[in-house]
This record gives sequence, structure tokens and C-alpha cells, in this order.
Amino acid sequence: MDSSFEDFCLSLPKIELHAHLNGSLSDKILPLLGCPYSDICNYQKLRNIPIGQRNLENVFKTFAIAHKATSSSQTVYLATLNLIKEFAADNVIYLELRTTPRNEEGMSAENYIESVIKAIQDSTNRILVKLILSLNRQHSLEECTNNLNLILKKQSEYPDIIKGIDLSGNPIHGSFHDLKHLFERGRNNNLFTTIHCGEVVNSKEIHEILEFRPERIGHACYLHPNYNGCIQNWNLLKELRLPTEICLTSNIVTGTVDIYENHHVQEWIKDNLPFSLNTDDKGIFNTSLSQEFQIAKKFFKFSAPDLWKISMNSIEDSFANAEEKIYLKMKLEDWKFKNYKFFSQ
Ligand code: IMP
Ligand code: ZN
Repeated sequence: MDSSFEDFCLSLPKIELHAHLNGSLSDKILPLLGCPYSDICNYQKLRNIPIGQRNLENVFKTFAIAHKATSSSQTVYLATLNLIKEFAADNVIYLELRTTPRNEEGMSAENYIESVIKAIQDSTNRILVKLILSLNRQHSLEECTNNLNLILKKQSEYPDIIKGIDLSGNPIHGSFHDLKHLFERGRNNNLFTTIHCGEVVNSKEIHEILEFRPERIGHACYLHPNYNGCIQNWNLLKELRLPTEICLTSNIVTGTVDIYENHHVQEWIKDNLPFSLNTDDKGIFNTSLSQEFQIAKKFFKFSAPDLWKISMNSIEDSFANAEEKIYLKMKLEDWKFKNYKFFSQ
């Protein structure tokens, strides 16, 4: 990779809209939380699994390591604080962090949320951070309902930080259908919604998610008819123009896409549909947002102005408020003005 392009990707102010807290913890952060060396080695092992043997199951097992390392209020706080620092060092100027509230011995789900929020408030980095709280599709309806009740309670206390809800978890379990009413309740209470969509082949569920019209969808690997999806869903997406959170490396490591050259984002590019570039679980996948931008340039021939535009469009797709969006757009314009060398080649 040409080093001036690496510099461009690192220096470009970036917008991260799809990052799970626990999956994002790097092997530099885990030791700070007291994570044993053997666990860190297992965490790193995933990266060495040959492509044909990679699958979602391997990845979902790996989350357990990070969860063990963040099982107290103190470690959740430290993890969040250090993670924000890492994103800021990568010149991410706006971060929407998402996480699933958890009860652990000595830490309630409410303590968990409080610890994440305290870290966001204490962070001294030049980065704007918002929180999306996740419902896990593997959990029972009762657990998800309790989780939503708690989220709504905390949202009323921290409306400037808690901006939305997400549906995540292992896509082979559970269904959007059973939890849809909870997302409707969230929406009626001023929470934005983003839904992991089409990580496995399931056009029926994808259709139901699109019909719900979340503010954004995640991944959408199997939505287009060339990717085991169907034309009705693709036409619906084209009509609704829901912004898609694209996570290139994540799709390769989980095996939903075999090689970057075959990534479904190409259909979004062809049809000029809105999308953002994101890391998903940068700790587990050993990536960074700068690296995802470099990969996008390498495989999909994006130019510097194209990547700048992706950052700019992501601001519009974010859950930031109108003033925050203006501030972020000004930062990006200002950076372009000062870095014209990248645009004049
Ligand atoms: P946490 O919510 O901060 O604990 O982050 C880890 C959790 O995010 C995992 O246990 C999953 O529920 C969810 N997650 C992370 N990556 C993915 C993904 O690619 N698909 C679906 N869910 C995911
Ligand atoms: Zn995700």
C-alpha cells in the first residue's frame, strides 16, 4: 500500500457507526483489565484460522474472553475509556459505541451502563461518543423486555448519550419478528434503531426488517439477489435508501464473504446506495477504521475524495443531533482545506 495513502487514511477524520464494545477490545487493552495471557493468545488465534474454516460460531465463542475481562464495573469503565482513546488515536472524530447491558456477580446491568457512560463522560479525547444499547437475539423475550425497560430508564437520565438500540447476537438464533414490538417501543420513545440484517440467508427476515424501516441496517451480506438474497428486497432497499453499515474485514473473518474482491458492497456502489465503513469488532478482527478505509481503496478503487465523501455522508447517517452534525461536517471541511495535497493528485 502506498504510504501517502496510508497517511491519508490515518489522518482523515472518520466516523465509526458500528463498533461493539467488547468485540473492539484490542490485545493492548485486555491486559490492562487483568485478562490472562492464555486468554489473549486464544483471542489472537482466531486471526490465524484458515479462510475456509472461519465461521460465525468461532467468532461468537471469542466474545466470551472479552466478557470475562469486563465482568466488574471497574473493568467495564477501564475498557471503555481505553477503547475511546484507541479510536481517537485513529482519528475517529465521532464514535457510536454499542454494547449489550449485562448482569454479572457484583455488577447489575444498570451498573454496567453507568460504567460505560461514566467512561464516555470522563474521556478527555477529542472525539464525540454516543451510545447504542443492544438487544441480543439469543436472549429470551423476557430478558430483552427487561433490557429495554432498563434502557428506557437510562435514556431518560442520559438523553444526550444514549441515542439508539440495536439488534445483534448470533444470527442463527432468535428472530427479529419476536422482538419487533420492542423496537417499536424504543422508536416511540425517541430511540433510533439499527438492526443487524442478513448475516445469514433469510430473505423473509430481511424483508420484515426493511419494512420496519430502521434508521440503519448492519452488514446486509445476503440481501442482493447476486448474494443469495432476492430482487424484491433489493428493490425495497433501493426505494427506502436505508443507510447500510458495511464491515469489510468482519465479513471476511466470520466467513460470510470469502474474499474482499467478492464483497457485496460493490452492489451498493453500482446502485449508488448510502453506506458507511465500520470496524464491527476491531479487537477480534485485528483491524482499525483507517485500515478499513485502506482496504476499501485497494479492492474497490476508491480515491481520496471518494473516501472523504464516505466520511461526510456517514455524518448524515449518524444519530448525532443537528448541531453536532454541523460541527462534525465543519471539522471534515476544515481538514480538506488544510490537506488539499491529497485531493489535487
Ligand atoms: P458487547 O455487546 O459489547 O458485549 O459486544 C459483543 C457482542 O456484540 C456479542 O456478544 C454479540 O452479541 C454482538 N456482536 C458482535 N459482533 C457481531 C456480529 O458480527 N453480528 C452479530 N452480533 C455481533
Ligand atoms: Zn455488528
